[in-house]
Amino acid sequence: MEHKKLSTFPADFLWGSASAAYQVEGAPFEDGKKASVWDNFVRIPGKTFKGTNGDVAVDHYHRYKEDVALMKELGLKSYRFSVAWTRVLPEGRGAVNSAGLKFYENLVDELIENGIEPIITLYHWDLPQSLQDLYGGWESREIIGDFLNYAEILFETFKGKVKYWVSLNEQNVFTNQGWVTATHPPGKKDMKLFYQVNHIANLANATVINKFHELEIPGQIGPSFAYTPQYAKDSDPRNVLAAENAEEMYSHFWMDVYMYGEYPLAALALLREQGLAPVFEAGDAALLKSAQPDFLGINYYQSATNAWNPLDGGVGAASFNTTGKKGTTKESGVPGLHKKIQNPFVERTNWDWEIDPEGLRIALRRITSRYRIPIMITENGLGEYDKLEEGKVHDDYRINYLESHVRAIKEAITDGATVIGYHTWSYTDLLSWLNGYQKRYGFVYVDQDETMEGSLKRIPKDSYYWYQHLIETNAEEI
Ligand code: BG6
Repeated sequence: MEHKKLSTFPADFLWGSASAAYQVEGAPFEDGKKASVWDNFVRIPGKTFKGTNGDVAVDHYHRYKEDVALMKELGLKSYRFSVAWTRVLPEGRGAVNSAGLKFYENLVDELIENGIEPIITLYHWDLPQSLQDLYGGWESREIIGDFLNYAEILFETFKGKVKYWVSLNEQNVFTNQGWVTATHPPGKKDMKLFYQVNHIANLANATVINKFHELEIPGQIGPSFAYTPQYAKDSDPRNVLAAENAEEMYSHFWMDVYMYGEYPLAALALLREQGLAPVFEAGDAALLKSAQPDFLGINYYQSATNAWNPLDGGVGAASFNTTGKKGTTKESGVPGLHKKIQNPFVERTNWDWEIDPEGLRIALRRITSRYRIPIMITENGLGEYDKLEEGKVHDDYRINYLESHVRAIKEAITDGATVIGYHTWSYTDLLSWLNGYQKRYGFVYVDQDETMEGSLKRIPKDSYYWYQHLIETNAEEI
């Protein structure tokens, strides 16, 4: 629908930006921290672009004050960051490492003193290696108790200071990459295990959300889901069905569990037929149903377009573009379900991610219709090559990307969606898990590259000043 006049953003709207511990902090073994699965995975030859790792990253661990000062100047209302479990509990359980926890206490205090709302992500993929070794990490139900214990430490430490909490970041991504594509730790390809791991993660998520509510921690908690709205290639009913299949298997399969405590029926029927359905134990169903997130975090980068893909002779999985060479993504799909095809109506990035602001409006509308829950956009951004020229980065392509997405949010709010915040990915440039340092997302350029010997100097890009104005004016001009 077209509106003659758009709503304004609420006065307390959280204009923010986001990051994750492994991608920014560096200092992997300082002040008592021990290895996470990522500290080890990156050392396996061929796993990351040019063997990059987060040993230094952008050195946020030592430069957080400088970073927060730049955030303040930018006018950020909120900053979403993740806690490295291994700083707080180096072995994932046992005694608290107060020196590690202190880093986050300092960061939270610094943010609050500068008028910035801290938003904590409990888990952004850096599982303690000890727990992986002990019982296979997410493959065992033992993780539920350990995750709960870790979360409770953070709830108790930061209650009253931190009001917004993200439980799991992109459960759909870390389970898929870890157990289907083998591109993230633990690097396995096992569909049965994938669905079981995911079920255990659902139980852990529900347990922690319930605890947050039981303890009456002032504030709100929810998971962050990587939502890719699915389109059909055209009105051929088989292509429409392919899009429905993708939406069911890649979106409802997670969001329905968060919101209704139940897996969607068609997905479950298919998994049962294939012998892949997660094994429920007594109490699982009730637990999933009992947990209610206060908001749904959405990480939105792109939409996806689908065509029919026959069971016999259909295309299967393919690797994705981690090189930054446009057009290198190969056709991929799941026979009998769907095939992902290029959308001819949208532009794409050098990493072949489709640029589709309208897709964000569609995403917000779909979530609102199906779940009626406030949404926090916990990530949205453009990963591109940036060029530092005479001390400046003219990233007008990023400004265009972000501006069009902010406009889409405004339209969705006018349509009736409740959106409480917008967090760009990312604040500074940072390490992309699989794409090294060349794929940049930040408002602040950081002199760091694949040699990992950069000066780490921070330089605000043009987009930094654009966001500053947008925040000042509450996006009234968009
Ligand atoms: C999200 C993650 O999936 O996408 C981030 O939560 C990640 O951690 C971001 O960096 C961008 O992905 P990439 O692969 O372009 O770095």
